[in-house]
Amino acid sequence: MRALLSDEEARLYFDQSPRDQAHGYAAAMVVRAASVDREETLKAALLHDVGKTEARLGLLGRVLASLMIKLRVPLSRRMAAYRDHGPMGAAELSEAGSATLVVEFARNHHGARPEAVGEEDWDLLQKADIPANARLARRRR
Ligand SMILES: [Fe+2]
Ligand SMILES: [Fe+2]
Repeated sequence: MRALLSDEEARLYFDQSPRDQAHGYAAAMVVRAASVDREETLKAALLHDVGKTEARLGLLGRVLASLMIKLRVPLSRRMAAYRDHGPMGAAELSEAGSATLVVEFARNHHGARPEAVGEEDWDLLQKADIPANARLARRRR
């Protein structure tokens, strides 16, 4: 996977917490398992959450932030950064020179499919972006 990434993309990937790196890697593995070897789709999966690094929130902080976002109560700066990790990551990836698919999936992955991401890629990437605990729970069923 490292060979796919430019130096700047690799920096963004490895600056993530080990948990987020594992999440991106697991997403890329789902893409690869679907026999989709398009480099850009793999990279979109691998890098979609790089914007979370800026928020520097641990697991508990993230749970709390998710709850506060749902309740629409005022957020701290770091919690707002966590909420906005899609667009923030997209800006970093754009600056790193990433492909449009990589940038636009990062920007929109918690929203609606943008024009720049084809339906096939979107469906696969959405399926790939499942938190590890949800994937485990599904396997246990
Ligand atoms: Fe995300
Ligand atoms: Fe994700």
